[in-house]
Amino acid sequence: MKPVKYILIAQLCCLCQGDPYVHLHAGGCKWTLRLPGNRSSDEVPLSSDSADPLAQRICQGLGCGGVYHVDKTGPAAPNATCFHDCSYKDHRLQNCSRTVGSDCTVITEAVCGHQALRLVGGPDRCAGRVELWRNGMWGTVCDDRWDLRDAGVACAQLGCGYALSVTGQGDGSFAPGRGPVHLDELNCTGQEGNLWACPAAQEEPDCGHKEDAGVICSEMRAIRLTGGLDRCSGKLEVHRNGSWGTVCDNCWNEGLASVVCSMLRCGATPLKVSQFVPALAHNGGTLWYYQCGPAERSLWQCREFANRTHLCAHSKASGVICGGTTTAAAAAAGVFISASPELLSAVTVCLLLLLLLIINTVLCCHYRRRHAFLFQQTRSGPRPRSGHSDNDYQGAVDLVKVTAAVQPQTDGQWS
Ligand SMILES: *[C@@H]1O[C@H](CO)[C@@H](O)[C@H](O)[C@H]1NC(C)=O
Ligand SMILES: *[C@@H]1O[C@H](CO)[C@@H](O)[C@H](O)[C@H]1NC(C)=O
Ligand SMILES: *[C@@H]1O[C@H](CO)[C@@H](O)[C@H](O)[C@H]1NC(C)=O
Ligand SMILES: *[C@@H]1O[C@H](CO)[C@@H](O)[C@H](O)[C@H]1NC(C)=O
Ligand SMILES: *[C@@H]1O[C@H](CO)[C@@H](O)[C@H](O)[C@H]1NC(C)=O
Ligand SMILES: *[C@@H]1O[C@H](CO)[C@@H](O)[C@H](O)[C@H]1NC(C)=O
Repeated sequence: MKPVKYILIAQLCCLCQGDPYVHLHAGGCKWTLRLPGNRSSDEVPLSSDSADPLAQRICQGLGCGGVYHVDKTGPAAPNATCFHDCSYKDHRLQNCSRTVGSDCTVITEAVCGHQALRLVGGPDRCAGRVELWRNGMWGTVCDDRWDLRDAGVACAQLGCGYALSVTGQGDGSFAPGRGPVHLDELNCTGQEGNLWACPAAQEEPDCGHKEDAGVICSEMRAIRLTGGLDRCSGKLEVHRNGSWGTVCDNCWNEGLASVVCSMLRCGATPLKVSQFVPALAHNGGTLWYYQCGPAERSLWQCREFANRTHLCAHSKASGVICGGTTTAAAAAAGVFISASPELLSAVTVCLLLLLLLIINTVLCCHYRRRHAFLFQQTRSGPRPRSGHSDNDYQGAVDLVKVTAAVQPQTDGQWS
């Protein structure tokens, strides 16, 4: 009798331990199913017709809204044992039935609505207007009380680091959105896994799209050149995930270097990109490898590999000496002119004034020379030419002063 009892208990244990559980990913509203114990790497086949309703129940049970997206594949093994008619409670599937069948599917990843977030209208996926998804509709967030802590939750949710700055109230950083305004008056602590988990206004938002909240996150933002004579020369460092890494020189070339120089507003043409003596050493942080097409204007648009030893074998750190500060100033001026029509007209007026000045100087010189000539003729005495060259020099000084006044400012490594 006793052995039979033990076998029964063992079987029961196997059965109740054998039911799958919900394994949550970062953010808390993204999950996969796993089997307990030493079978955790096994896949969990579900009967095809039960996968979608189950995903719906799990997302709602987690407090994560509806289902945003479910990735599914067929099971690797034909005739797998599939789970169906499971109940869901406390992160576990319970009382599942099993059948061996060929009509099964495996959920490789499920994303619930509260995890669905995107930044729109920025230069890359880590900057832009904040958009949330709910019941099939993308909508925006109101910028009332929108601050770095709220925005930080959005950045972390996207794997974009932390928030550098927030935008809103029609500051023109990003274009206004469309559709519903999903959240208003957020008051996050900064620890939440997603924006929906933050305390927010209960009543309907009274915001228009001119108040759409936006954020610029830390990822894909910062590069710098270190160890050189100025900020436009040295070893290239890339800021990701809170620390600075170096770029291995196996991928480094003139094209990449000029992308980096332009990003730093140090002119477009690098003066020197290789054969530094002594060779530049890696810092011991992440080793980056970039693969860029000819049209890429920014490193962040290129394909990127982290710590791939085979790609970076025997590499040194990449460095560059960019084409100097005068080119940098000219490039920045170019950017500014294309940025605002008011500035364009101001610069035009300045140039006209400059032209007038030059004409004046030339006329003046001409007149004085004629005057001197006449004077010479009337007195017919010798006259030193120094007065004339003094005058030329004076004109040159004026020109230098005027040009120097148009020097714009550059804004450092954040580009
Ligand atoms: C998993 O553990 C069970 C008992 O807990 C054991 O019977 C089984 O052989 C193990 N399977 C593997 C693949 O280790
Ligand atoms: C799967 O099951 C079907 C019928 O139940 C059977 O004919 C087939 O041989 C099985 N295939 C495998 C790989 O076990
Ligand atoms: C699973 O079945 C047991 C026994 O039939 C029942 O007590 C329990 O409530 C069921 N669990 C769920 C989540 O329905
Ligand atoms: C925001 O939350 C903090 C606690 O996290 C609380 O002290 C504060 O009163 C809240 N502000 C508003 C306006 O709800
Ligand atoms: C970011 O850094 C943390 C530790 O600081 C690490 O756990 C995490 O895996 C890193 N993420 C990426 C994408 O490298
Ligand atoms: C790459 O390797 C370095 C050093 O081993 C480590 O500090 C860094 O976190 C790694 N980076 C990533 C993205 O895995």
